[in-house]
Amino acid sequence: MVQKILMICLGNICRSPIAEVVMADTLTKANRTDVLVDSAALGGWHVGNRADPRALSTLEKHGLKSTHIVRQITKKDFQDFDYIFGMDEDNMKELRRLSPQGSKAELLMLGDFGLDKSERIIEDPYYERGAEGFETAYQKCVVSCGAFMKQRLQK
Ligand code: 4NP
Repeated sequence: MVQKILMICLGNICRSPIAEVVMADTLTKANRTDVLVDSAALGGWHVGNRADPRALSTLEKHGLKSTHIVRQITKKDFQDFDYIFGMDEDNMKELRRLSPQGSKAELLMLGDFGLDKSERIIEDPYYERGAEGFETAYQKCVVSCGAFMKQRLQK
């Protein structure tokens, strides 16, 4: 059976497009063609745009590419996806608020997989000057996506 994962952050231009590509890459490398990955925003500011240039260059540096166009999360997503991941506590609060009663999706924080408790927040790098925060977000995604796949994605 196909399982579906949705990566969420505030703007869908920094963290969640990185998480989407890293999760897809992790699954591809493990030959997991039975899992689909998408990403979306909580806020509507960047709908229709591509990811932040710093997110794109960070992915490129690691041989990866995002073609994602920003979209905002919908009520239907909570029924369509098996797992919806937030990146920080504010994301999780907002996801819980938006989640319709009885919806299918399990709401999880990505950094709760494979990272130390003190490292579990994937912080928003948008307001930083450089791309360092994007590299940190990428590295955390690599660890957490791998750990989640091993722990939770039963064949
Ligand atoms: P993201 O970062 O949630 O990781 O995509 C942000 C991008 C844009 C904004 C906030 C966070 N914004 O306020 O426009």
